[in-house]
Amino acid sequence: MKEPVLAKPPLLAEGIVTVDKMGEIPLPEQIYRAIRDAVRSAVLRPGTKLPSTRRLAAVLDVSRNTVNAAYGLLLAEGIVSVRPGSAPRITEDLPPEGASVSLSGSPAAPLLSRRGETMAANLRGRGWGHRFGAFQPGAPALDCFPYEEWARCLRRAARLERGADLLYRNFAGVPELQKQLAAHLAVERGVHAEPEQILITSSMQSSLTLVSQALADAGDSAWLEEPGYVGARTAFHMAGLSIHPLPVDGEGADIAKMPAAAAAPRLIYVTPSHQFPLGARMPLARRLALLEAARTGGAVILEDDYDSEFLFSGRPVAALFGLAEEGQVIYLSTFSKSLLPGMRVAYCVVPPALVEPLAQAVRNFGCAANVQAQAALASFMDSGGYRKHLKNIRQIYQARGSLLVETLKERLGNSIEVDRPTGNVQLALTFRQPRDDVALALEMHERGFAVSPLSSYYIGSEKRSGLVVGFAGATEKQIAQGVEALGDLLANKRAG
Ligand SMILES: Cc1ncc(COP(=O)(O)O)c(C=O)c1O
Repeated sequence: MKEPVLAKPPLLAEGIVTVDKMGEIPLPEQIYRAIRDAVRSAVLRPGTKLPSTRRLAAVLDVSRNTVNAAYGLLLAEGIVSVRPGSAPRITEDLPPEGASVSLSGSPAAPLLSRRGETMAANLRGRGWGHRFGAFQPGAPALDCFPYEEWARCLRRAARLERGADLLYRNFAGVPELQKQLAAHLAVERGVHAEPEQILITSSMQSSLTLVSQALADAGDSAWLEEPGYVGARTAFHMAGLSIHPLPVDGEGADIAKMPAAAAAPRLIYVTPSHQFPLGARMPLARRLALLEAARTGGAVILEDDYDSEFLFSGRPVAALFGLAEEGQVIYLSTFSKSLLPGMRVAYCVVPPALVEPLAQAVRNFGCAANVQAQAALASFMDSGGYRKHLKNIRQIYQARGSLLVETLKERLGNSIEVDRPTGNVQLALTFRQPRDDVALALEMHERGFAVSPLSSYYIGSEKRSGLVVGFAGATEKQIAQGVEALGDLLANKRAG
């Protein structure tokens, strides 16, 4: 049955309800709050008809379920009433202000503290933070993981690891893994550290959260690459730091371009081996300038070296850590890219003076990694399995990345700019003409492609529009279909 067209529905005509799809507040709650506030401020009068759920959903470009949920909240609060056979209306006898309704439907749901709200913030944006699909940025390939070999390592670890590590001991990490990592880092990354300096955690995210809170106080300043990793921004946000964008160009972060007025930082987050998400490698002169600026300002540099073990071309330059004085740089890495995010093993290399306090902080935070997974990883590295796996994914990821770029250039070369990736599991493409990349990313999601808008990696108002596209797990078919879908969207100009 066709919906009756409402004469001048005020809600739509006056733009009272708008939604922010990237916002942290759930969409039904956004709609609910907009209508509730309009009623409270007498913009919407008692008796006013609301548009049908179908109509409002179409205007706001959200699902009908979303509008239904919002109307449900308004009904529960008595702001809206429905008579059989007619459209919902603003109630004639409104209940007194202050009556509130819980989104969860449970009257006993406790409210988050202010800190809790900060901790629960999803800075990636609600639209795609948890979506799953082809082209997901940051995701390694599930089909390249050596499941059988890993199962053997785990079985072995479960049999052998019967010691005190399984009880409340060694929150800093299993010694065998710390030793393997110390040897690996010295050879592959020029990072020379004692095994005890390597703290094993459950993720880069937990390492960043840990060091941000342990080394800086609320209100301290932190500099973050612009565009930059949202996980680092999240950690700084949770620590209550004041975040300043650090300009990035084709040579990575440029400390010389930092506005003089920016407060001296306590922490500086950088990805010098392969800038995230644009991909630049920082040259030596920039590295030295960065170290010098940090030294004179008394800042600690957080070096996120998330993918340098499988860069595609040439040998990666050594880590910044190797150039620094002791205590200037905390080196962080993760097995989320080289193995799997579900592995939940990462590590950071800290100065000797911080080993004990940070190991205690790992225990207090509860972010230590699973002991048997650590032991399995140590034997996987010891047997040469890890090195072999890196060699394998390097080739496969390079081939998938190249295919994606060729297909993009062939089909969309006139409207996008993209370079062959030099590493990693994703690449960034930019649009020749400014586009609404958030709307485009959402449209791609609707079609099963979990790309992210490049603009969402910026803090400041000057953003480049583009997309961050994961390729490590993409099949030929998905690449062909995804590029086709993007081409159609760009041609139809439905977004942007
Ligand atoms: C720059 C960077 N660092 C770290 C990570 C993730 O690390 P983890 O899964 O260990 O938190 C990602 C994931 O996409 C990343 O892009």
